[in-house]
Amino acid sequence: MSTFSAPKGIPEYYPPASSAFLHVREGLAAPARRAGYGYIDLPMFEETELFARGVGESTDVVSKEMYTFADRGGRSVTLRPEGTAGVVRSVLEHNMHRGQLPVKLWYAGPFFRYERPQAGRYRQLQQVGVEALGSEDPALDAEVITIAWDGYTSLGLTGMRLDLNSLGCRECRPAYRAALQEFLRALDLDEPTRKRIEINPLRVLDDKRPEVQAKVADAPLITDHLCGACKDHFDTVRALLDDTGVAYTVNPRLVRGLDYYSRTTFEFVHEGLGAQSGIGGGGRYDGLSEMIGGPNLPGIGFGLGVDRTLLALEAEGVPLDLPSACQVYAVPLGDDAHGRVYALVTELRRSGVATDMAFGGRGVKGAMKAADRSGARFAVVLGDRDLAEGVAQLKDLTTGDQTPVALDALVTTIKEKLQ
Ligand code: HAM
Repeated sequence: MSTFSAPKGIPEYYPPASSAFLHVREGLAAPARRAGYGYIDLPMFEETELFARGVGESTDVVSKEMYTFADRGGRSVTLRPEGTAGVVRSVLEHNMHRGQLPVKLWYAGPFFRYERPQAGRYRQLQQVGVEALGSEDPALDAEVITIAWDGYTSLGLTGMRLDLNSLGCRECRPAYRAALQEFLRALDLDEPTRKRIEINPLRVLDDKRPEVQAKVADAPLITDHLCGACKDHFDTVRALLDDTGVAYTVNPRLVRGLDYYSRTTFEFVHEGLGAQSGIGGGGRYDGLSEMIGGPNLPGIGFGLGVDRTLLALEAEGVPLDLPSACQVYAVPLGDDAHGRVYALVTELRRSGVATDMAFGGRGVKGAMKAADRSGARFAVVLGDRDLAEGVAQLKDLTTGDQTPVALDALVTTIKEKLQ
């Protein structure tokens, strides 16, 4: 222990567990790359106003959870709590929307929310996200949802549920909102909830308390209030998902925690995780560009939680197919062998073989233990006597077989055996 520890609520990923983290992040991003999404690297912080206007002042994220501070120039900046607002800002700033549409982008990295830390809820959380801008085509909604689905299933996850909803558009949502408010105002609810009815009534439907759930059981549902265009759009999204084998449940009470959503919204839920069961979610945000001062530019995307996906895989006990970090482990015995082994190791690495060696003149016993622990398939042992004879001992660590191999033939022999 040193005097310091990491800030509270931050999961750190270090070897050996960090290889599972990388594997999950890569597995979630791969389907997006295959579907033509280009990588975007976003700033870790933005002007505070971008999130206030984009994500919404009334959301928990903006009102309670942002890491906001003044920089040395006195500007208010905020560590990004999510990726969508930043992507839309970047697309508009660099005129990406003036080129071919839709603009399809993916990103990965840490996001920051000052939440109360608990299992699966962190202050620095990791997401893989995609955003597709410039089209209202329901096939784009289906594409985004299918990319997330394929990411989870490619990792071997089976126990997740996909909740799907449509939140309507600026034509039909106001009438629904008013009908819902009228219903909610007639209920006996506590003061904070009554306030929420006026600011964001849809969030009341999402209240987790059973007594509130019971009271809102007969609340009007958005799916019964969609306009013709939204209903057709939602029907087509569902038909496309049906055709491609993506299993979903329509949940008209699904309300996402960010204000920019319209039409299609979705969430992946995993029951193995307890309270923090949302492993990923997203939806359409057709009005977001205008909220931050841009033109009309519809969009849809998702953010998948890498931390929670790892926990879900653990909860299901899915074995991960992780590549071995080390294929060959080299052990020099004696001073003369040391330099030769170092050169050999470098040659193996340069030819593409993952190789490590025993450092610090360890005895043969300790070094062979390290070779076993490394997960390598082969150990190369070089003593001074071997060196005099121009050979090294090549030991297959799975069978225990050991054979002398001429030093000049070692790299090619190992490469052949690894194939
Ligand atoms: P979100 O639902 O706020 O959406 O976050 C997406 C995912 O990030 C969640 O489903 C969860 O897995 C993970 N996550 C969120 N907060 C935490 C936390 N405190 N600890 C661990 N994991 C967490 C968004 O962020 C939207 N930007 C998604 C989106 C993209 N919508 C459209 N495009």
